Amino acid sequence: MAEFSTRVEAVSISGIREVFEAAGDDAINLGIGQPDFPTPDHARQAAIDAIQSGDTDAYTSNKGILPLREAISDAYDRNYGIDVDPNDAIVTAGGSEALHLALEAHVDPGQEVIFPDPGFVAYDALTKLAGGTPKPVDLRDDLTLDPAAVEAAITDETAAFVINSPGNPTGAVQSEADIREFARIADEHDVLCISDEVYEHIVFEGEHHSPLAYANTDNVVVVSACSKTYSMTGWRLGWVIGSNRRIERMLRVHQYCQACASAPAQYAAKAALSGPQDCVAEMRDSFQQRRDVVLDGLEDAGLEVPTPQGAFYAMPKVPEGWCDEVLSRGVVVVPGEAFGANGEGYARLSYATGVEDLKEALEIMHAATNAVR
Ligand SMILES: Cc1ncc(COP(=O)(O)O)c(C=O)c1O
Repeated sequence: MAEFSTRVEAVSISGIREVFEAAGDDAINLGIGQPDFPTPDHARQAAIDAIQSGDTDAYTSNKGILPLREAISDAYDRNYGIDVDPNDAIVTAGGSEALHLALEAHVDPGQEVIFPDPGFVAYDALTKLAGGTPKPVDLRDDLTLDPAAVEAAITDETAAFVINSPGNPTGAVQSEADIREFARIADEHDVLCISDEVYEHIVFEGEHHSPLAYANTDNVVVVSACSKTYSMTGWRLGWVIGSNRRIERMLRVHQYCQACASAPAQYAAKAALSGPQDCVAEMRDSFQQRRDVVLDGLEDAGLEVPTPQGAFYAMPKVPEGWCDEVLSRGVVVVPGEAFGANGEGYARLSYATGVEDLKEALEIMHAATNAVR
């Protein structure tokens, strides 16, 4: 009987999906990174118009429609003063595909990829699928990634290091000084920095910084998406930015595994990126209010939690048996170990959920904490 590749046998189904699928219909779900807002009307309308005019009937350019790549380029100029050539971007099926392209194009069997632990589940899995060896590194107590720890982990076998600010599952935001350090490390060691910036617009205090602004462009690949910024997770629309030669290599992977991102989603994304941006600020303000509700509730329950500065996750330290107890009382959270060995003893809560549900969930968590302590 035909068997499976060792690469695919080395990965398992994400722990996030498992809890999501195990939860009953009545559960309050704090388990999934899914904003609860509708996609802005102007983005939806642009897709409807494109479908009705027949613009979406054919494959687009492999890299994505030029007006969207121009809108991406304009957004980097407007937001960060960073010059991105529209030809140095590939439009992908979400940030997930963008991460896949970045790792597939740069990792050889046996090479190492450094990433935060706890960290987003895809870094470990995509490294293994590319044939590489995961090299998770510990976080600081405030759950940020220490550039010194990344630098210490670099060896001759290092293909890339991944940074993720704002971070999933931690909600941690790296300081500008840290991002400059990551850029220096990439340049000095000639190691690729893959910067996962899908939460770039959900920063509560201070600003988002990208290593693209500081490092040699050839040493940085940026991954981002419309998913979280415009509440467009279901549209599957992201992008990867890199130097011309890196884009050309990643395009080889994209061309054969995806051909092009969904055409209707590309038109919606173009409208989202170049249309009014008030919706982004409104969603961010709402996430910040919810973050404060969550911090208060966790504090009342006596749980220790570093203050998340971005994204829509909180990662409290929890007593043993806490996640199961909370789940049995009808609230879905993700056990920290789903994000790496260092996640043990933590839980990830997503607060991209209405305030009333959050308050109810926090009361349940309080009672569950008392029950397991
Ligand atoms: C840190 C991080 N990177 C990438 C992704 C993938 O995003 P997308 O839904 O655009 O594929 C996610 C999704 O949760 C994420 O949290």
